[in-house]
Amino acid sequence: MSGRIPREFIDDLLVRVDIVDLIDSHVPLKKTGNNFVARCPFHAEKTPSFSVNRKKQFFHCFGCGASGNAISFLMEFSHLDFVEAVEDLAAFVGIDVPRESVEYQSSKQKKEDSSELYALMEQVAGFYVERLRSGVEGKIAAEYLKNRGVGGASASDFMLGYAPDEWQALTARFDSKLLLEAGLVVIKEGGQIYDRFRGRIMFPIRDRRARIIGFGGRVLDNSLPKYLNSPETSLFHKSREVYGLYELLAKNAKPQRILIVEGYMDVIALAQYGIHYAVATLGTAASQAHLDLLFRFCSELVFCFDGDKAGREAAWRAMEPAFSSLKDGRQIRIMLLPPNHDPDSLVREEDVDGFVGRVQAAETLSDYFFGHFSNELNLSEIEGRAQLVSKARPYLEKLPESIFREMMFARLKELSGWANLDVFENAATLASNQGLKQVRKADRNLSQDGNRLSSARVAVALLVQNPRLAELVEQREIDWNGLDFPGAGLFRSILQTIADKNPVNAAVLVECYRDAAEEKSIKALALLDSQVSDDKIDAVFCDSLDRLLNQARESALTRLLNKGKTNGLDAQEKELLRKMLATKIMVPSSRNL
Ligand code: UTP
Ligand code: MN
Repeated sequence: MSGRIPREFIDDLLVRVDIVDLIDSHVPLKKTGNNFVARCPFHAEKTPSFSVNRKKQFFHCFGCGASGNAISFLMEFSHLDFVEAVEDLAAFVGIDVPRESVEYQSSKQKKEDSSELYALMEQVAGFYVERLRSGVEGKIAAEYLKNRGVGGASASDFMLGYAPDEWQALTARFDSKLLLEAGLVVIKEGGQIYDRFRGRIMFPIRDRRARIIGFGGRVLDNSLPKYLNSPETSLFHKSREVYGLYELLAKNAKPQRILIVEGYMDVIALAQYGIHYAVATLGTAASQAHLDLLFRFCSELVFCFDGDKAGREAAWRAMEPAFSSLKDGRQIRIMLLPPNHDPDSLVREEDVDGFVGRVQAAETLSDYFFGHFSNELNLSEIEGRAQLVSKARPYLEKLPESIFREMMFARLKELSGWANLDVFENAATLASNQGLKQVRKADRNLSQDGNRLSSARVAVALLVQNPRLAELVEQREIDWNGLDFPGAGLFRSILQTIADKNPVNAAVLVECYRDAAEEKSIKALALLDSQVSDDKIDAVFCDSLDRLLNQARESALTRLLNKGKTNGLDAQEKELLRKMLATKIMVPSSRNL
């Protein structure tokens, strides 16, 4: 690969990934309070001192001092260099790494755009929810859901709503340009804009961080199209997203298995029956990206397909991505439903026990795969067995190197009776080299700086950990002229970086300083436990900032006054002194500086 990876892409990547998911997929984490903990993968230990903080998007081991963001974790854990780690991380998130020649929108602009879009989606979903709960139309829609057996709790878990049967319900309330970007409106030929979803039950599609990225909408009668989905937008990519994952993880972050069903209503009906571990692909076949995404949360996936011909064909189409995603330790099973049923109707007919029984009895992928050929081909004849080899082999070759792969080849060899089949053709070195790596001791003292932290330290640490606080500094329109305090240079450098790069969290900010002289200090500040609860952060920050500025002003003032007495002041210094005295007299309370 040539060309540099654009800086903005890396920042953006760190915003998209959730370090808790990433690390959890390598080292199972346990939630304790605000942190997720595990035994440290970087040094041998009996009790967990490795902790991951979702808000900061940072990990830290109190034992060996290893720390960093998602990129640093992959570098350390998988022994990768920086570029490899970025590539791995991008693959984990499911996006390609652009290179410098490729145009890439400035991350700052993009982030602003998407945060506006996310906010709009949220407001629109809220509007739909409100419409389901009020008015004549809402009543009819609510009645429809009730008739389909969807209770109030499920409706609220899935944030179901209703889009009124009006052309301008959204355009009358929200910004048209944003609505267009969000795929919520359609432009007519004459340039007129109207609402995409009208007279439909609305299903918001949320990503794992609870952000609404798209909608599905169902009509209340038999008109067509039955379902309408959001188009591809900058927020919504059908081939990578599934419906119901957020809601599933909200009930159980570590499900034993995940069912993949076809419809919105299937997911909701199953949840209604307490089966909270189903997701639906969004009117597309399950892709490898879908499967890799789901395998991050459990090791077993069960596909549910209708038992009719279309369902069986769909099941067969799922084989290819399934084979590609089957690493050791992962399992896929195929469940074909009785004719004329979908999971929604089946669970209502057979109740939970019946349905769960079927899930548990679902065929393994290997049985389904070879069973398919046994039905299709006559394996008692040489011709049939030869066809088996030529048809099955391309699939088996998709399997990642694994024991499973070898066993599948062995089975093929057995069924075909062809001893020459080169089972070990591409056999892998199965030696796992995910060895544990001792990392250098980072500066441990920085993380526990005694009980009392100076105002400067508190302010700068809170700023690193919550870059949004820079806004509070900006609001104060501080004249930094002549102000000095320990760490002032660093403080202002951080403010500058935040202004330039707009990092959303500590992980992204720290990334801006990778390999810079300040990196170590910034990292230490990111780790510093200020012991401030979330709701007090702004107040504590303002308070320490004010105290810090006051102290700095006092000492600047004293310095100027002393110099005035001894050496005399030049014009500039006199002006500064005049200003300082004026500020001091006019605004005696530090709160209002
Ligand atoms: P189904 O027609 O099986 O939907 O389509 P369903 O969920 O069982 O619908 P109900 O029970 O009649 O309400 C399965 C999925 O295919 C997509 C939707 O994602 C739907 O949930 N689909 C279907 C569309 O996108 N458009 C359509 O017109 C139909
Ligand atoms: Mn259905």
